[in-house]
Amino acid sequence: MKLLVVVLFLSVALVSTTSPDPEAPTGFDNKSNGMVDDAAHQADQAKFDETEGVDDGLGPLYNAQSCRECHQNPTSGGTSQVSELRVGHQGHDHIFHNPEIPIAHGTEIIKGRTLVNDRSICPSAAFPDMEIQEHVPDSENIRTNRMSVGLLGDGFVEAVADQTLLDLSKKQCEESHHKICGQAIYVPIVEAPGQTGIGRFGWKDQHASLLSFSGDAYVNEMGITSRLFPDEVTKLCNTAPEPNNQPGTDGLDDVDHFARFVRASKAPARDATLADTPQAKKGSQLFDKIGCVTCHVRTLTTAAAGAKINGGTYTISDALGGKTFYPYSDFLLHNVGTGDGMVVPMIEHYGVRMYQIQWKSFSPQHFQKAQNKLRTAPLWGIRFRNRMMHDGQSITLRDAILRHRKEGREAAKHFKHLSAADQQAVLDFVNSL
Ligand code: HEC
Ligand code: HEC
Repeated sequence: MKLLVVVLFLSVALVSTTSPDPEAPTGFDNKSNGMVDDAAHQADQAKFDETEGVDDGLGPLYNAQSCRECHQNPTSGGTSQVSELRVGHQGHDHIFHNPEIPIAHGTEIIKGRTLVNDRSICPSAAFPDMEIQEHVPDSENIRTNRMSVGLLGDGFVEAVADQTLLDLSKKQCEESHHKICGQAIYVPIVEAPGQTGIGRFGWKDQHASLLSFSGDAYVNEMGITSRLFPDEVTKLCNTAPEPNNQPGTDGLDDVDHFARFVRASKAPARDATLADTPQAKKGSQLFDKIGCVTCHVRTLTTAAAGAKINGGTYTISDALGGKTFYPYSDFLLHNVGTGDGMVVPMIEHYGVRMYQIQWKSFSPQHFQKAQNKLRTAPLWGIRFRNRMMHDGQSITLRDAILRHRKEGREAAKHFKHLSAADQQAVLDFVNSL
């Protein structure tokens, strides 16, 4: 009897110490992960899906009329084939410079951003003679496309503590004997002037906060100004009052709805059929064995519920706190030989007023150092993309893998040396994510 009690006690202790953190919910059902109720989530989605017009403040320069246009596969908040254009040039000082793009027959020069907008709202009935389409001068000879990325489950990514990413970087560097050392970067939290966090969103880790990213996207992709980004890229052809985006009856701006929509989204679910095949299971082991997992980290855990992040402006809710999820990324910056030499443009991402503020632990030099680095692309939901890597230039998974050089060279080499069947197993596994 005594023995039985001891055994029972031990097994309970064992279960409670080894039981993992609860898992982040997954799926593509447009339902909330529990952070808000489903009705609120769907209302937020409606904002994300909404097509904006000139009267709402669209443009003057823009790329698309709604967030959904670029984030939609297989459902709102997902990824898409839409790419955008970024350019710049290397100066005589050997430093990267943002482009200077003349518009309106050279009467105005657009500066401070690497993004080149593909569309504009005029000429129009109101401005029949105004030409503001951006065209890239020949002198801007560093040019790249950047693919849209998926947002589903990003609320969990945002809720990972800075320290978790810093520790990951240190451990990775030590364990690889300094061959693979992901760079973590402090970036401004736009809604908390002076405060920073470890960047984890965008191909260059240019944001830590989903609210900051939403404001950035609203002005740069759609030309809609908000309290976070109150300055238009150009005033030419502009008629809507500023900031274009005003709070609704619930006190929330569109940018608040976008951020909450992403925060409450479920993480991408795996392809259960493929994941269950012997090949994919074997591929999963090989993925670890050949070193993909060093950067494409399987599991992360969010900070505890109640923790304050984004410079104290955002408290992690019960639905997001202490959750385990499977992004297959370390969210750190690496040079895998695909760098295009572009440095993150400060004004574009943090606003015209960013230089008036002293940001904690922030230095644009850190972005200089990351000139040829990119964030480890999270592989969750990769099966919804057929143009891979930041520039969309890899059309098959095999091409994408074999393109890894520098920090990713060893892993790519190990992949190349696998038998055809084992290579296929790795591809099946990645395709199941
Ligand atoms: C024209 C296409 C386009 C539109 C419209 C667009 N995005 Fe994006 N989005 C992108 C691209 C491209 C990236 C990657 C950007 C980069 O890092 O250069 C991205 C990245 C993001 C990210 C970072 C996700 C991550 O995991 O790294 C968020 C968040 C985001 N967009 C939110 C929005 C919101 C909110 C809207 C609407 C206000 C929006 N986007 C509109 C193309 C678009
Ligand atoms: C040193 C870190 C590192 C290692 C090791 C690594 N990757 Fe990557 N991986 C990256 C980075 C960084 C990118 C983004 C590169 C870009 O966009 O130019 C990436 C991109 C990818 C992509 C494209 C994803 C997309 O959304 O476009 C795939 C697929 C991929 N890696 C698979 C693998 C596999 C399989 C292995 C093992 C053979 C591996 N990677 C090893 C860092 C790494």
